[in-house]
Amino acid sequence: MGPDPKVQDFSQRDFREALSTFATGVTIVTAPGLNGDPVGMTVSSFNSVSMDPPLVLWSVTKAALSAQSFKAAKRFAVHVLSVEQTTLSNAFSKSGMDKFSVCDHEIDPFGVPVLADCATRFDCSQWAVYEGGDHWIIVGKVEGIERNRKEGLVFGGGAYAVAAPLTTPAGRAADHDGLDSPADSLLFYHLSRAYHQMGHRIHEAVRDSGLTVGEWRILASLHGEASRSYSELMARTFLDPQSLGDILRSLEADGLCRLSEQDGASFASGTAQGASRVEKLFALSHAIERKALSDAGDEDREVLIEGLKQIVSNTETIGS
Ligand SMILES: Cc1cc2nc3c(=O)[nH]c(=O)nc-3n(C[C@H](O)[C@H](O)[C@H](O)COP(=O)(O)O)c2cc1C
Repeated sequence: MGPDPKVQDFSQRDFREALSTFATGVTIVTAPGLNGDPVGMTVSSFNSVSMDPPLVLWSVTKAALSAQSFKAAKRFAVHVLSVEQTTLSNAFSKSGMDKFSVCDHEIDPFGVPVLADCATRFDCSQWAVYEGGDHWIIVGKVEGIERNRKEGLVFGGGAYAVAAPLTTPAGRAADHDGLDSPADSLLFYHLSRAYHQMGHRIHEAVRDSGLTVGEWRILASLHGEASRSYSELMARTFLDPQSLGDILRSLEADGLCRLSEQDGASFASGTAQGASRVEKLFALSHAIERKALSDAGDEDREVLIEGLKQIVSNTETIGS
């Protein structure tokens, strides 16, 4: 079989989207800055390298204002963010911001800023720096670890997520055996499982229609609305600011939405073309929902939606 031209001829956007199928955790890496001010940035390229000695790596874009500081830093800290720290992740992903003014931190004996309340912190000494195209690859030797009982934040498909257990055949067998697991009494467990199973079907339909899940979430949020602010869209789509901006610009280029500025804030509104791309998907999603709730009538469905809305409103401050 000859090479498929579609496989070899990919754009930067194709590359970014393909990489986004590889879900990662989210970290903030901090170090002393060359000019004396601490530096920090949101990083998803963190990974393990070696057990003995304990080595980790991450890569920093050469375009970052802090790139030279990270390259020069003899010590740095990698903070694995918890599901409650999406605001911090967004703050540390903005170039040139005074990032440390928005969070509790201390300076450790090596001059490294250390952030509070993360899931895990790896204190590292620099082991090696490698050239990596438009990034530097920084390898660190882990000198110390601090762990908290917090659930790690996940980043995949350009959006923040939480990790939920897969419904494995083993898991189902346990259910059928009538073995009660403590998770069975947790609403959260059933919500996660229902979300993943139903989401899988809806997202398949979205991809079949030629949209990415991020594009679908944005277009669905704009449907029937005069306009929505970027912050409203971030809350509704779970997209980080960079991915949201990228996707909105490409949707605008395709005539699927319009972007505007008002009083210093950015807004997006739908177009007729954008609306028609999601109308069929709304119908399909409703059909998937009806099938998933086969025994329930309209009234039960509304009660369920009201209950979920209550949960959303009562937990709104978490993670925002
Ligand atoms: C979820 C997420 C993951 C990111 N991962 C990386 C990364 O691995 N490497 C990187 O250089 N930038 C990454 N970024 C972008 C940087 O956070 C951003 O460019 C950085 O804050 C710029 O810092 P500066 O103030 O030094 O210019 C990521 C952003 C987000 C939202």
